[in-house]
Amino acid sequence: MKALVLSGGKGTRLHPLTYTNAKQLIPVANKPVLFYALEKIVAAGIYEIGIVVGDTREEIIAAVGDGRQFGEQVSISYIHQEQPLGLAHAVKLAQPFLQNDRFLMFLGDNFIEEPLGELVAHFAAPDCLDHAKVCLTRVEAPQQFGVALLSEEQERLVRVVEKPREPISDLAIVGVYLFDAHIFEAVNAIHPSARGELEITDAIQYLIDRGYRVSPHLLRGYWIDTGRMQDMLNANRTVLSQMQGALAPGVEIDERSCLYGEVVLEENVRLINSVVRGPSIIGRNVVLENTYIGPFTSIAHDTVVMNSEIEHSIILEGCTIQAIGGRIEDSLIGRHTQIYPTQGRPGAHRLLLGDHSSIGLMSA
Ligand code: DAU
Repeated sequence: MKALVLSGGKGTRLHPLTYTNAKQLIPVANKPVLFYALEKIVAAGIYEIGIVVGDTREEIIAAVGDGRQFGEQVSISYIHQEQPLGLAHAVKLAQPFLQNDRFLMFLGDNFIEEPLGELVAHFAAPDCLDHAKVCLTRVEAPQQFGVALLSEEQERLVRVVEKPREPISDLAIVGVYLFDAHIFEAVNAIHPSARGELEITDAIQYLIDRGYRVSPHLLRGYWIDTGRMQDMLNANRTVLSQMQGALAPGVEIDERSCLYGEVVLEENVRLINSVVRGPSIIGRNVVLENTYIGPFTSIAHDTVVMNSEIEHSIILEGCTIQAIGGRIEDSLIGRHTQIYPTQGRPGAHRLLLGDHSSIGLMSA
């Protein structure tokens, strides 16, 4: 088996962060979302991995490299998709890499709990009759996803629709699929949807309509589609709540500082008169001074926080945050952001924000 990971696309829902950053590289507990997918794939025993990349390919290649950080046997091939023309378009482009092998397809911005070993082993077995297997989970707002309708005995998919206005069921299609080579017949036959994409749901419907066997897998555990800020914060909270505290070499904690609960401090973190309440992770070379970091916070490397309070947030690397009145909560702050108090009169907020930024200021 091979794996195909989709990390192209534009990530418009996480603007402004994704103007420059691949959304699949936004960190959850200080590790890119995409890395969790790659770890899951390798843990399931798949080592030949193709990654579809688009505009942000340089950043993704710089982060993932040859894939050896995920295991000795891992080999990564990058497949360049010039335009995000749809998930089925990405499969089409990947045919020379996938050839006739059965494969696992994983959307690089999806985050799942269930290990994939059993599922992959079942689909790879010579006696497996399925031509495709689609992971599904019950959701409250199916209209935001691809949705599947099952046969009466719940063993097959009979219909799939992409983001239907009127949901046909509450079973959302999770971004994890297994296919055999019949999928190429399907992706070559379908036409672009109303949003101009070659939809994987249309390719799956093509398989169903031709009588190929497409079976469901009801996912165990959580699934988070990290396309939106609140989803990123949820993923961050979920991972942090399973983490054990640890102190890396070079950490310095002065006598006025303290840690409560599960806190990970990476290399050379310095705490000066500060409190960190876990579960939280503080990246390498971060300095916290006169600061309170509350639960469910991830701070990436080389950030400085002074005279501030932050809780339930993700702060990317290289930020400087100092002395702002009030606590920062439920926030996602991009790389190299500066937050500082303004001096002098007239007292005012002075902002330099990227397009589509979103800031919530406390009313006076
Ligand atoms: O997250 C699950 C959903 O993913 C499914 O329920 C839907 O059926 C499926 O179509 C997909 O919907 P999204 O609209 O959320 O897909 P999105 O555009 O966010 O792309 C998912 C991933 O695939 C993301 O990592 C970017 C990558 N991608 C996307 C497109 C359109 C590519 O690599 N190439 C592409 O052309």
